[in-house]
Order: sequence, then C-alpha cells, then structure tokens
Amino acid sequence: MLTETALEERTEAFACEVIRPIAPAMARGAGPHPKHIVSAAGEAGLAGILTPARFGGAGGSHRGFAAFIEAVARECASSAVILDVHLSVGTEPIIVFGDDDQKSRYLPRLASGEWLAGFALTEASGGSDAAALQMRAERDSDGYRLTGAKAFITGAGAADLYLVMARTGGGTRGITAFLVESAWEGVRSGAPLRKMGLHGSWTGELILDSVHVPEANRLGAEGTGFKVALAALDSGRVGISAQAVGIAQGALDAAVARARRDGGRGADIDEMSLADMEAHTVAARIMTRHVAAMVDAGERVTRDAAVAKLYATDTCVEVAQKAVELCAPESGVADHPAAVRLCDAKACQIYEGTNQIQRVVIARDLLK
Ligand code: CAA
Repeated sequence: MLTETALEERTEAFACEVIRPIAPAMARGAGPHPKHIVSAAGEAGLAGILTPARFGGAGGSHRGFAAFIEAVARECASSAVILDVHLSVGTEPIIVFGDDDQKSRYLPRLASGEWLAGFALTEASGGSDAAALQMRAERDSDGYRLTGAKAFITGAGAADLYLVMARTGGGTRGITAFLVESAWEGVRSGAPLRKMGLHGSWTGELILDSVHVPEANRLGAEGTGFKVALAALDSGRVGISAQAVGIAQGALDAAVARARRDGGRGADIDEMSLADMEAHTVAARIMTRHVAAMVDAGERVTRDAAVAKLYATDTCVEVAQKAVELCAPESGVADHPAAVRLCDAKACQIYEGTNQIQRVVIARDLLK
C-alpha cells in the first residue's frame, strides 16, 4: 500500500513531468491517445489508486485520488477526465461490486494502465433520466445479448472495458450492470464528438449490436444495475469536483501570472477579483476533500457529493470566466491558458449529472 506522502510525490511528479508538457497539444485535440495517458499513469503507479494492492493497485484513499485528479486538472483538464473516469466510475464499481473472478480478470490490467475503462449509462433519448435507458439485455445460452446505443460516453472508441447498464426488466429494478470488452464482436463506437472543450478526451457513442456477454461478466445481481450506477456516481462526483478545483486553480494561476506581469501589488490590478477567485477555489477544495474523507470513512455521500459537485463546478466556470476577463485581450485567443480553462470548465457542470440534477438530489435528500 502506498503511503500518502509517496502518493503526493508521485502525483506531483506525474502532473509536472508527464502532463504539463502535453497539455497544450491535448487542449488542441492533438495530444496523445487517451490510452497513452492511462498507460503513463500506470507506469507511475497511479492508474489504480483506489485498487487494492493484491490486485495490482496502490490501495490509496479517495483523498489521495481527489488530490491526484486536482493536480492533473490544474495542468490539463482533458487528461484529468480520462483518468477520473478510468479510476472512478470505470474501475471503482468492480472493486466495490465485483466478485473475485471479475476482480482478478480486470483490476490488474486496469491498475497497470494496460487497459482503459469506460462507464456507459447515458442514452440519447433518456439524458439525465438515467432510469429511462432502453439498451436491452436478453438472456441467451450462457449469458446475455446486449443491444442498443449509449451516448456521450467518455472514452468511447478508446476504452478496452466498459461498465454498461442495460435493461433486463422494467423500472429501476429492471436494470443490470455488465462488464463489456471493446474487442467483443458487435461492439463499436461512433466518431468522437467535436466538443467546446476537453478536446484531448474522446466522447462519443457506444453501440452494442447483439453483443454476447457471458454471465460471469454481470456485475452484481440481475436488477441491481441502477444502484451500482448511482453508487458509482456518488463517489465519481468527488472526482469531478476535484477536476473542477484543478481547473479553477489553473485559471487562477493564469490570472495571477498576468497580474504579476502587469506590475503586481500596488499596480492597477483587480485585486478584489483575484481574492474572490482564491476564496472560492479554496472553499471548493476543502469541500471536495471533506467528501473524499467521508467516502474513505465508508459514509454515504449522495447529498454531500452532489453539494461538492455543484459548488466546485460552478466555481470553476466563474473563476475561469473571470480569468479570461483579467487576462484580456490575449485570452481571446483559443490556446490561452485562461481560455482553455473556460472551455474545459463548462462540461464539468454537465457530466456525471448536470448541476440541475445535483439540485434534485440535494433537495430530495433534504425533504425525505
Ligand atoms: N446510490 C444507490 N442507490 C440509489 C441512489 C444512490 N445514490 N439513489 C437512488 N438509489 C436507489 C433508490 O434507493 C431506489 O431504490 P429502490 O428501488 O430499492 O427503492 C432506486 O435507486 C431508484 O431511485 P429513484 O426513484 O430516486 O430514481 P430516479 O429515477 O428518480 O433517479 C436521479 C433520479 C437520481 C436524478 C437519477 O436519474 C440520476 O442520478 N440522474 C443523473 C445521471 C447521471 O449522473 N449521469 C451521468 C452519466 S456518467 C458521466 O457523465 C461520466 C462522464 O462522462 C464524465
């Protein structure tokens, strides 16, 4: 098991030496393949932070995971979302819900960075209403046949293994989770979408055309897939919060660098805005680390993770927008660090549950 100090040192070295040099190319969509990012993390011993050591992982904490995602996102939000989905909603459900056979077959490959993991819940017709998914899983001889299409999947076309939620019956109790390998017959992906930001991360459609999935690849009991997905997202939202904190910090770094260039303290600088940006970023970081510590303590974080995700992702958009204003006119150019952060920030308010969905989750919990 990796100590917290060792994890911090590895994180720092990885973010500065591996991610910083490729960040400009990633921001243009001309960086390395997503699998390269996860394999580089694997070489640094960081592709399985949450995976127990006996399955080849670092056996680390969610606090360490959040600090890692934040540090990567400060340099490059595209790399951060690739690693976040891989480590969190892609791998963690296998750690939590997998049987020993599934853990031994998949965790070592994911933790070493040999394989990239994806999470396939969303469908075009259902959107935020996850329970409306229509992908079918029909029983066949020794397993199931999955047919349907998933939309807006991070890593579609790049991932080696997808956690796929499909319908084995009606309602939320008629959804089942499956581990689907991309190499299997009938699995294909659409072309990566041209997004407004996060150009280095692939997002697209995942199509399953009568894909045979052996019973041994059903994750959890039949009918428990909705809970698997929502539990994965509770913890996953800590990762997105951490990504948002990293983006906010990267935007603030750009604004402070510009203010220093313009003369620093005492010069004609909008110090009030810089101070507000720092205060909101620090608050988002504290909130995120607090929820990560709750996950480590085994507490249910449905409401707290939604609060952190809502606050941190709203903060990263506001801070990045302010950074663009403070760095004008240079920040009007697409590859300016503040402009990159603003374009990357918006997706954080949308994925792993839109911020409207976070409000639904928070209000429901308050009123139950
Ligand atoms: N954990 C475990 N179980 C949960 C749960 C949770 N957080 N929340 C609800 N459940 C259970 C309930 O207890 C209930 O169980 P029973 O059947 O035993 O009673 C069951 O799930 C159904 O619950 P609800 O009636 O509350 O379900 P709903 O349909 O009303 O869900 C919703 C509403 C929670 C808002 C849900 O639709 C939701 O979370 N939507 C957002 C989906 C989302 O986040 N998508 C992100 C895609 S992944 C992604 O973006 C990754 C990426 O690319 C970066």
